[in-house]
Amino acid sequence: MANDVLVSFRGVQKSYDGETLIVKDLNLDIRKGEFLTLLGPSGSGKTTSLMMLAGFETPTAGEILLDGRSLNKLPPHKRDIGMVFQNYALFPHMTVAENLAFPLSVRGMSRTDISERVKRALSMVQLDTFRNRYPGQLSGGQQQRVALARALVFEPQLVLMDEPLGALDKQLREHMQMEIKHLHERLGVTVVYVTHDQGEALTMSDRVAVFHQGEIQQIAPPRELYEAPHNTFVAQFIGENNRLAGTLLSRDGAECVVRLARGEEVRATAVNVGAVGEAVSLSIRPERIRLNGHSEACPNRFSGRIAEFIYLGDHVRIRMEVCGQSDFYVKQPIAELDPALAVGDLVPLGWSVEHVRALDPLLSE
Ligand SMILES: Nc1ncnc2c1ncn2[C@@H]1O[C@H](COP(=O)(O)OP(=O)(O)OP(=O)(O)O)[C@@H](O)[C@H]1O
Ligand SMILES: [Mg+2]
Repeated sequence: MANDVLVSFRGVQKSYDGETLIVKDLNLDIRKGEFLTLLGPSGSGKTTSLMMLAGFETPTAGEILLDGRSLNKLPPHKRDIGMVFQNYALFPHMTVAENLAFPLSVRGMSRTDISERVKRALSMVQLDTFRNRYPGQLSGGQQQRVALARALVFEPQLVLMDEPLGALDKQLREHMQMEIKHLHERLGVTVVYVTHDQGEALTMSDRVAVFHQGEIQQIAPPRELYEAPHNTFVAQFIGENNRLAGTLLSRDGAECVVRLARGEEVRATAVNVGAVGEAVSLSIRPERIRLNGHSEACPNRFSGRIAEFIYLGDHVRIRMEVCGQSDFYVKQPIAELDPALAVGDLVPLGWSVEHVRALDPLLSE
């Protein structure tokens, strides 16, 4: 095993009832110092995977290694892993300082060392002046910071966070996202983070593992995940996506031709397609569609009728009817929007081969 790997899931499976596999066959290497996010819809097995790593759940099959050592028989408190959960679980009858001291005293650290560490942890999350308050006297964001400091105070090599910002309002959540991200950069600690919020995953992570039905669909850095999804589930789950259904007409290396239901032919990048004649789902991001004169050089050129403008301040989403589909979205930065466009207009549009990806027809629907 390469020594830059901290955690390895090897063929890990989990079933709670002895029948259904909640985690199917998890093989995942987490690198030292990495910020890895498990992202996926509700029930996809994110928390279960995290709980097995923490030691609160036992894998039904397979093993988990931490720094090359099998964790299977190691109880949670011996794993040297810090944890933060959605409901923080601070001890209400202890002050902030006492909450932070707790994980250190259970580890048998001396009083002077504890006091030094607690001081450092408090200043790390900028709560020095709150040390004698009780959790009930703090705001949600402050409580979350204490929870964060408590997970980091014993300087674990790995920190697990399960939807830690779920209870906070949008503004505070975004603030804490940056705070956690910067803390991670400063400390160099390895973080495994769980969320079902894709914006949060893209903003914070070095890599994101997209979970669906107990399996990783794709694991990649945020930009790659967005620009180069491997399958239709990922294309749909991350960002906005236009989907056109068709069948594979021909393939020539990295490029293919797909025929849509009404007979239009689209030249696309062949990413995840079967044999000629099989069903294909085309994926095109709304910001990659060119309108009017801008579409002239595009190898894929069609026309669409404008159905609706949705104004979003810095950009406009235009809902159009394209190739028989009435929910085809085009995204235009406000500065590039042609003010003459109106609902009902028939507009030429197009996209390049590079920006339309031919993927699987999403069988799980
Ligand atoms: N202790 C348990 N006993 C039985 N079934 C469980 C248990 N914990 C979770 N499950 C089931 O396992 C599946 C995966 O749950 P898990 O909590 O891992 O999902 P998740 O991806 O974290 O979802 P969410 O985003 O809603 O938190 C769900 O169908 C859930 O009902
Ligand atoms: Mg969960």
